[in-house]
Amino acid sequence: MEIIVQETYEEMSRAAAKVVARMLNSKPNAVLGLATGSTPQGVYRELVRLHKNEGLDFSQVTSFNLDEYVGLTKDHPQSYHYFMHENLFKHVNIPPQNVYIPSGTTDNYVAFCAWYERRIEECGGIDLQLLGIGSDGHIAFNEPSSSLGSRTRIKTLARQTIADNARFFEKTEDVPIYAITMGVGTILEARSILLLANGAHKADAVVAAIEGPVTSMITASALQLHPDVICFLDRPAADKLKMLDYYQWVQAKHPGAPQGT
Ligand code: GLP
Repeated sequence: MEIIVQETYEEMSRAAAKVVARMLNSKPNAVLGLATGSTPQGVYRELVRLHKNEGLDFSQVTSFNLDEYVGLTKDHPQSYHYFMHENLFKHVNIPPQNVYIPSGTTDNYVAFCAWYERRIEECGGIDLQLLGIGSDGHIAFNEPSSSLGSRTRIKTLARQTIADNARFFEKTEDVPIYAITMGVGTILEARSILLLANGAHKADAVVAAIEGPVTSMITASALQLHPDVICFLDRPAADKLKMLDYYQWVQAKHPGAPQGT
């Protein structure tokens, strides 16, 4: 895992967006895996800026989102469909038919999940997957104890996640209890992954994911098994890392590092 620590959320977001832009410039028809939540909003803002000011082109991009709340329609302001439209899709030139987001309102979840997995495969697999991390260490909605081999399916949200996400709803009871989510196994098949975390409230999850044992109790720890993960952190999220000095030392040397290290 490569650990990049930036002083601020804005710097972290710009650095991560640069990796996405580099991917789109080298592979214009890249397949992106996209995430929701407050964490990636800065990356999306920067991608929109790059599209508007520097012509970053999404015309051949395909995207697959990680998850969606069960029961929320596409136009519900707290649905992930709505979030993606507002934060990214309506501002860039990605063709609507290339956008895939799990359905929160299908009448056959089992069939939908199998189809979603198939579509990812048919599109050639995910080139670059963006991820945030929940305060309980989850990725997408793979709550603690999710199988590390899991595929797209329905998950019951943990109380911690419901409490965390209640800030977006009028009251806690409005937060859906179920979500449809890519599995940990699905995520690990992406060719490269960017994990983002900011804020002191993520520091415990970050240290467990990066330096703790690989365990289904912290599903982000499964990323340790993946050969191409860059972890972008702001300073408060990185604060509890035991090897922080080492990561920063590596980061400082990186531009001059010999090829292959
Ligand atoms: C939800 C999403 C995750 C996200 C997490 C953290 O649970 N399913 O994909 O990483 O929230 O959200 P935030 O970025 O708002 O802290």
